[in-house]
Amino acid sequence: MTSISNTQKQPVLKLINVCKRFGGVVAANEISFELYAGEIFGLIGPNGSGKTTLINLITGIYSVDSGSIVLDGKNIVRMPIHNRARVGIVRTFQHPRLLGRCDIRANISLGKDLADKRKIPDTDKYQERMGVLLEAAGLTNVDLSDSIEKLSYGQQKMLEIVRALLSKPKVLLLDEPAAGLNRKEMSYIINLIDFAVKEDICVLLIEHAMDLVMSICQRLTVLNFGQQIASGIPSEIQENPAVIKAYLGGSRNAEN
Ligand SMILES: Nc1ncnc2c1ncn2[C@@H]1O[C@H](COP(=O)(O)OP(=O)(O)OP(=O)(O)O)[C@@H](O)[C@H]1O
Ligand SMILES: [Mg+2]
Repeated sequence: MTSISNTQKQPVLKLINVCKRFGGVVAANEISFELYAGEIFGLIGPNGSGKTTLINLITGIYSVDSGSIVLDGKNIVRMPIHNRARVGIVRTFQHPRLLGRCDIRANISLGKDLADKRKIPDTDKYQERMGVLLEAAGLTNVDLSDSIEKLSYGQQKMLEIVRALLSKPKVLLLDEPAAGLNRKEMSYIINLIDFAVKEDICVLLIEHAMDLVMSICQRLTVLNFGQQIASGIPSEIQENPAVIKAYLGGSRNAEN
């Protein structure tokens, strides 16, 4: 993984004081952070702390109550969900969401379709790119004409990331990619994240597997009850008393 200095770069994605409530629940309270090209940024915190909500706000599934979400200098809070994908924001889901009635190839090709809509050059190199991605994901022996149900849970999670990367996004939002995966499968996830970093994609990584997060993220922010309780590099976060109290020292951590 590359490490980068952010001092002279412009952020690709910027959240400024983003707020979201669901009735009496404050899911996001004045959340602010920036993502830079080629960076892996960790978003961690206990169950229900508001991590997935932020992905839903960035992708437009939910609208913000207040605050700004800025992509390449442009506020996108009013941009419809399909346009956000077209401008290069893609995500995976906590539980894989693939087209169950279509074969594997058709599911993957949605990533190529999005690349075409994004007017990405070199989509003629799609087959080559797909081959590299399938290898990184440990999916080379899979028959692409099989239905999605033939894939294991872990393979489905991998396929979601492959599909997302085929669209050549600017921002890749990963919602617990390693949850439920074994060590080998986790190494494929790392391969895919590495691929993204090499393409200068910014990666937002939500994950409870702390060994993974702390080893690959350059920076992290920590949520608790919708509040941002700490931000910094992994060593700072691991030593932060508020983070240890709310999350790292609790029962919901590391290998979960
Ligand atoms: N559509 C919704 N309607 C009502 N409440 C919601 C909705 N989406 C999220 N919430 C609430 O917002 C809070 C944050 O939920 P969120 O799913 O973002 O947490 P999370 O950090 O992703 O948790 P986990 O680690 O379990 O995935 C929770 O209290 C949740 O119940
Ligand atoms: Mg979640």
